[in-house]
Amino acid sequence: EMLEKGGYDHFMLKEIYEQPRSIKDSMRGRIYPNEGKLQLGGLKQYEEKFKNADRIIIVACGTSWHAGLVGEYLIEEFARVPVEVEYASEFRYRNPIISEKDIVIAISQSGETADTMAAIELAKEKGATILGICNVVGSSIPRLTHAGVYTHAGPEIGVASTKAFTAQVTVLTLIAFYVAQIKGTVTTGKLVELLTELESVPTLVEKALKANDLIVKIAEELKDSRNCLFLGRGSGFPVALEGALKLKEISYIHAEGYPAAEMKHGPIALIDNEMPVIVIATKNSSYEKVISNIQEVKARKGIVIAIVTEGDTEVKNMADYTIEIPHADEAFLPLIATIPLQLLSYHIAVMRGCNVDQPRNLAKSVTVE
Ligand code: G6P
Repeated sequence: EMLEKGGYDHFMLKEIYEQPRSIKDSMRGRIYPNEGKLQLGGLKQYEEKFKNADRIIIVACGTSWHAGLVGEYLIEEFARVPVEVEYASEFRYRNPIISEKDIVIAISQSGETADTMAAIELAKEKGATILGICNVVGSSIPRLTHAGVYTHAGPEIGVASTKAFTAQVTVLTLIAFYVAQIKGTVTTGKLVELLTELESVPTLVEKALKANDLIVKIAEELKDSRNCLFLGRGSGFPVALEGALKLKEISYIHAEGYPAAEMKHGPIALIDNEMPVIVIATKNSSYEKVISNIQEVKARKGIVIAIVTEGDTEVKNMADYTIEIPHADEAFLPLIATIPLQLLSYHIAVMRGCNVDQPRNLAKSVTVE
């Protein structure tokens, strides 16, 4: 087993470190930055469908649902198609309104999640076109869907999903740009720019991984916390949700992800000098707003751990701890900002003596409803 872990203490850590590779593999042969073009073989025959789609509905569970929320942000931003993201388990029991002009995208690492399969069956009955984003080749969901795009994360052993998540987000980024290309909602010039930067994301993720030693120190400070709040805005919000899910899954610390501005409608009541608040505070369109959220936390003596863009000084002066990530276009923020949160959960869980690869009560794939 040590051999399989490639010298890492746990599969989860190995899989975190594999991300520059798995992200690259998930876009290989699909993007042509110099020409500002994308090719997604699986979707080719659905070009007209995408052109005329009234709506895209994403169905998934768990971490894959969080990837879906990032997808919503990207598809709406670039392809200008309305997107709804649904928990498969809720969707299937709600008599949802679906038409033949809808495209349903099911996201699943394993391709075997029972609720997601049932949601697909339902949408299929109602005539929608169903596409899959799966990691396991030949699993059930790719067989149930009309077409799809595989993630190339390789086998994921750790129950808490890491590299499969970033691979899903990578593929959703490709789909957003692909639909934008078909619909002409983004110019070729802009696509050249975006794809060139997307191609550099694996290198940026590698840089983000360099914060590991600092994160170990921060984990020391947080390991005995009873609660943790994760805040983000825009596409930083699903990153916050995923950060909180990772922490609770493997360390059993109660954690919640919240849109930063919603904090004042509830979670702010929980903030005192024992509450760590992890904030995605990178330099993008919501930067100034997030700064004022940080001030609100500090005014109540909360402990602020901020994920910032490298070179940032403003947040550094306010936060208790800052973790730098390289600068990137807002579109790629989720792929990079997720990395330090994965490492933070991992180290906290290890320090608490938890079984990080096989947390209690959880299964890698849930094949019952
Ligand atoms: C389980 C796993 C999660 C995963 C979820 C959905 O709860 O523990 O890591 O996100 O199922 O799984 P799927 O294979 O459909 O992505």
